[in-house]
Amino acid sequence: MTFEDRILRLKEEIETAKAKSQHDAEEFRIKYLGSKGLFKELFNDFKRVSSEEKRQFGKVINEVKQTAERKVEEWKASLSSESNTSSELDLTRPGMAQAPGAQHPITIIKDEVIEIFRAIGFSVAEGPEIEDDWHNFSALNFPPEHPARDMQDTFFVENPDGGEPHVLRTHTSSVQVRVMENEKPPIRIIAPGRVFRNEDISARSHCIFHQIEGLYIDEGVTFADMKQTLEYFAKEFFGKSKIRLRPSYFPFTEPSAEMDVYWGLETELDYRITKGTGWLEVMGCGMVDPAVLKSSGIDPDKYSGFAFGMGLERSAMQRFHIPDIRMMFENDIRFLQQFRSAL
Ligand code: PHE
Repeated sequence: MTFEDRILRLKEEIETAKAKSQHDAEEFRIKYLGSKGLFKELFNDFKRVSSEEKRQFGKVINEVKQTAERKVEEWKASLSSESNTSSELDLTRPGMAQAPGAQHPITIIKDEVIEIFRAIGFSVAEGPEIEDDWHNFSALNFPPEHPARDMQDTFFVENPDGGEPHVLRTHTSSVQVRVMENEKPPIRIIAPGRVFRNEDISARSHCIFHQIEGLYIDEGVTFADMKQTLEYFAKEFFGKSKIRLRPSYFPFTEPSAEMDVYWGLETELDYRITKGTGWLEVMGCGMVDPAVLKSSGIDPDKYSGFAFGMGLERSAMQRFHIPDIRMMFENDIRFLQQFRSAL
């Protein structure tokens, strides 16, 4: 048989071949395409034919081979559904391992605070991390010479429009202003977010940290409403029912206060985290200064309200006994895996 005859015969065999089962398909594959199959043989002999014949038959052989491969693929796909009965599924095989992620301690605390305030009608608001001077300072009643605007505290960034420099927001209070500018009372929002201060990094403080801001504006909102709301929060978040409000100062609230919760002084740990006082400093708060309402477009004769802002890192450190704030930003997987799974 000439080389040409062999090819033509192979071609015909392959084109007319049929398979009724997976088994037939596999037999066909082994016979023609297997490592000792007819194509292998043909290619071996092909090496020895004249270059004239090589030119003549090379293309045909490849085409026939491709036809054979296509047929096998088609058979395997179409015949598989018929023969794929449940007896072929090994139900005793172990399942695929799931590798659930864990939630970051800050996320856990943040979500918990949001949930506590959501239950009493607060919704979540957000604002940009790069702020203009107006939303971070001026609208909040910071006079131009206020020390908080100093280079020491604030990261300035270039203003792409060439005006006065922008800032990385130093607190989430900037979101208060944005919400008041855009919404009409009643306003009840909670604003979680990252804030930035140009401070030395140590075990207790970082230049990047997180706050949650709260704002409640409506007709006739009083200091008593604020105290009641913060008491509710202390009960839900710490499981403690005694709070106190110490006079304090913020440019944007009047009067201003620091809210402490009575933690207790039973264990050595209580001593440590309350610095021996039994009281835990929780947040800054106060009645929104009428000048702030006014500069944000809200009529201070008609509306009043309160605001508060708390840091999240300290609560996370207390809750999870994290000794160093930097651990929360190093992304060491061994640290991160210890917290509640996200599933
Ligand atoms: N923005 C203040 C801070 O950074 C906290 C605060 C918020 C105080 C709202 C009063 C009212 O510390």
